[in-house]
Amino acid sequence: MVDMRVRIGEIELKNPVMPGSGTMGEGLARVMDLNRIGAIVTKTITPDKREGCVPPRMVEYKDGSLMAIGIPCKGPDHYIEEILPHYRAYATPVVCSVSAPTVEAFGQLAAKLSVPGVSVIEANISCPNLEQDGKAFGMDAEASARVVRRIKESTDRPVWAKLTPNVTDIAAIAQAVEAAGADAITCANGMLGMAVDVENFQPALGNITGGMTGPCMRPIILRMAWQVARAVKIPIIGSGGMATARDALEYLMVGCSAVQIGTINFVRPTAMLEVIDGVEAFCRRKGLRAARELTGAMVPRREFKEQQVA
Ligand SMILES: Cc1cc2nc3c(=O)[nH]c(=O)nc-3n(C[C@H](O)[C@H](O)[C@H](O)COP(=O)(O)O)c2cc1C
Repeated sequence: MVDMRVRIGEIELKNPVMPGSGTMGEGLARVMDLNRIGAIVTKTITPDKREGCVPPRMVEYKDGSLMAIGIPCKGPDHYIEEILPHYRAYATPVVCSVSAPTVEAFGQLAAKLSVPGVSVIEANISCPNLEQDGKAFGMDAEASARVVRRIKESTDRPVWAKLTPNVTDIAAIAQAVEAAGADAITCANGMLGMAVDVENFQPALGNITGGMTGPCMRPIILRMAWQVARAVKIPIIGSGGMATARDALEYLMVGCSAVQIGTINFVRPTAMLEVIDGVEAFCRRKGLRAARELTGAMVPRREFKEQQVA
């Protein structure tokens, strides 16, 4: 019997597998028992109602998707009254993802959503900072830290900072949010990309640029998770391109304590269950008693020397 429990700061999860924000809804309960997954993660909630980006919102590739959805949202009251009651029926912690245009609004939103049934606040800092230059909070170490500090002041729930990969030095951002009090780091959101509809001489996305996600992103985000793991002591939740248990094992071995499964949920809605069962089977095969033994279990090759690879 493999002990699948993992600890993310003060929260214990029954296993290390959960959905990425925005990739599950209440309807998932029709295809799986939500008691089986490590956590329920909500779509990002914003302070005000939002329509989201103008269409087209998605371009599909063989092994990934480029998307500019723009976080359509019905606001926090809708979430508290209409969505959360569905999730309270399960003994699975709920991670509430939040995003806001200012540091102060992040704090107020986190306070408002710290209601019974919400176990964790995940700060989606990939959104534009409207007090500064409109670049994502997560692109700037100080702005990322300010968001985390403000949320920590306004809630007694653990705070996970979900980083953007659209930076040159993700380890520096990770260290800044750790110093600001983040309880864990989610690494990472979609990577900025674009596509052109050449027949019509137009950008393929209504928003022109969007976030690239899915299996094609895995080597890049995995590399970032490894860099973050070497830079901080707080737990890391990997998020980027996982489709199978083998993919999740990579993230755990480079130092993640848990994983978020995203795009592939739309292709195979029971993918998370396959990942949970596959990680358990791997532990059994390798004689590991607990899934947490996988965290950071990758052994460097003997000839490894720190070097820049072009
Ligand atoms: C359709 C869709 C909607 C998403 N919505 C959100 C969101 O609201 N908030 C957020 O932080 N991330 C959002 N994401 C990003 C995912 O949570 C995840 O971090 C990202 O897709 C990388 O994982 P993947 O490669 O397994 O998809 C969304 C991704 C997809 C595909």
